[in-house]
Amino acid sequence: MALIPADIIEDVRIQTDIVNLVGEYVKLEKKGRNYTGACPFHQERDPSFTVNPEKQMFYCFGCQAGGSAIKFLMLIESLTFVESVRRLANRAGINLPDLEKSGDDKKAAREERAWRANAEAGDFYHHYLLNSPEAKPAREYLAGRGLSQETINTFKIGYAPAAWDSLTVHMRKAGYRTEEIVETGLAVGDRNKVFDRFRNRIIFPVANAQGRVVAFGGRILGAADNQPKYLNTPETPFFNKGKILYGLHLARQAIRQAGYAVIMEGYMDVVTAHQSGIRNVMASMGTSLTADQGKLLLRYTRDIYIAYDADSAGMKAAARGLDILQQIGCRLKVISMPRDTDPDDFIRQKGAQGWNALLEGADSLLEYKMSLARTSGRDARGILDEILPNLSEIKSDIELEDGIKTVASRLNISWEAVKGEIRRYRASQRKIWVKPDKIAKNTHNILKSDKTRDALSGAEMGILKILVEKPEKLNLFRSVLGNDFIQDPLVKELYLAVVPWIDSGRFEPARLLDELGEQQAALLSRLIMEKSFGPGGTEDSAGYDPQDIDRIAEDYINVIKRNDQARKRIVFMQELAKAEKNNDIDLVNDILKKLQEIGNPE
Ligand code: UTP
Ligand code: MN
Repeated sequence: MALIPADIIEDVRIQTDIVNLVGEYVKLEKKGRNYTGACPFHQERDPSFTVNPEKQMFYCFGCQAGGSAIKFLMLIESLTFVESVRRLANRAGINLPDLEKSGDDKKAAREERAWRANAEAGDFYHHYLLNSPEAKPAREYLAGRGLSQETINTFKIGYAPAAWDSLTVHMRKAGYRTEEIVETGLAVGDRNKVFDRFRNRIIFPVANAQGRVVAFGGRILGAADNQPKYLNTPETPFFNKGKILYGLHLARQAIRQAGYAVIMEGYMDVVTAHQSGIRNVMASMGTSLTADQGKLLLRYTRDIYIAYDADSAGMKAAARGLDILQQIGCRLKVISMPRDTDPDDFIRQKGAQGWNALLEGADSLLEYKMSLARTSGRDARGILDEILPNLSEIKSDIELEDGIKTVASRLNISWEAVKGEIRRYRASQRKIWVKPDKIAKNTHNILKSDKTRDALSGAEMGILKILVEKPEKLNLFRSVLGNDFIQDPLVKELYLAVVPWIDSGRFEPARLLDELGEQQAALLSRLIMEKSFGPGGTEDSAGYDPQDIDRIAEDYINVIKRNDQARKRIVFMQELAKAEKNNDIDLVNDILKKLQEIGNPE
């Protein structure tokens, strides 16, 4: 990644007002010290999206997105950190010096050039379609498929001339070297003989989430006889099919508005849908769905409909992708398209209204998988086995309950039976408890009981919260608990990230947020933005009674100490059991003494 000097990033931070920036995307209302509005990152009824001007950060209590102005622009415009800083610098009129070219910089520069080359080629094809007499059959073909001029312009659809090297010649004139033209996939061949990859084909430019053209698909005019119907840009250093969804850049706004997205198979499906006013759609371009594509969509919604031609090879390929999408947190529905009909056909026949009705009838992933298993002749047991992995992936209790009801009623078994199966399945997936003796079981019960764990992680988070608001309390915790007292891995990681900042004497959450991973950033934002605790602690109050905070800190410390004691006791008791079994009297006495020293749990 290109390195931007730290002082410039600092300038960008200082000169960017997060309320202004967010205000360009979200309607904000002042509430006390904060501004609130409807979250642009997920669908919601009550505004839980909050911007704090003092700390220059945002946080959504609904979807936990949070961070600095830089992060906000990254999320909302799908930018990298560096791209986001560049944009904000531009916006603030800060000059970015010409950066030294590191290895990564060179790659970025090459990529930039490749994308410019694609944009140039896209313009060439589009222009050619609109203006060339030779493109008349192509224009007629598109008109025959019902595409309006506006749609052709929106998608920048083009036409590749039939000649061998029209594009290559054009690109050379525009200043691109032959190797570059080949490397971007626009031409095929070597130094001696190069010819255009796409010839006599309708061209669909494929853009990334930011709208930059990264590839092309070229359709043959009319029926495909002994040629592939579509030719596509091959995988290049600058194009990875599994990370792109066709049409996403035109769908982002509509996805936010609708609260869900639809994935279709092909270029024409998306284009026709758009023309009919259905804009929250994109295409996987005939491949199996990937986690990368799912993650792209999760920035906008987790509700995703799949609209594939029912019996198509694409559906079979996609089915594998559905589990992957569910695992990363998408909520999936599968639209059942009439046989041999794709969304393009369907929408042209039935319009947006018919389409919406089709969506209403979509199956949840569970229902879809059950139908599939039933069609392939499985009995209730077989169907249940098929969907248990999906059922046990569901993380929300409410959604799980829904799923259990669906499955129970479809398979005609009781809710309890389904729940039991899920428990068994989950247990079989978990690591088997290695020490089957009583002590081990006790250990398990003590450490894994929800109550203990909740109290413990509550205390751990509470301490972090205190540190975020009153960094000077670090010494207190450190002197009593040491530096390694946190069990929860996520909290621990965050604690270890926060401490050096506090030690350095300038803890600036907004800056730290940009360095943290997704989960840590979400947790830290939450800790900062949540109401202060203690009686009378409200979002608006500057703080709380210092005595309260000391009392609360003490409570947390006690919880952690008790837990630590319990853990030590368990270890000693395990050793004790072993020593007794070995008749090692000395060791037994030794351990008993140690047990006495750490005291009993109250
Ligand atoms: P389809 O065969 O369903 O094509 O392939 P389509 O989108 O309905 O196209 P029309 O309506 O016949 O014009 C779905 C998608 O799979 C990819 C393309 O992205 C296509 O849009 N595909 C298909 C290819 O890449 N190559 C092919 O030869 C066929
Ligand atoms: Mn089609």
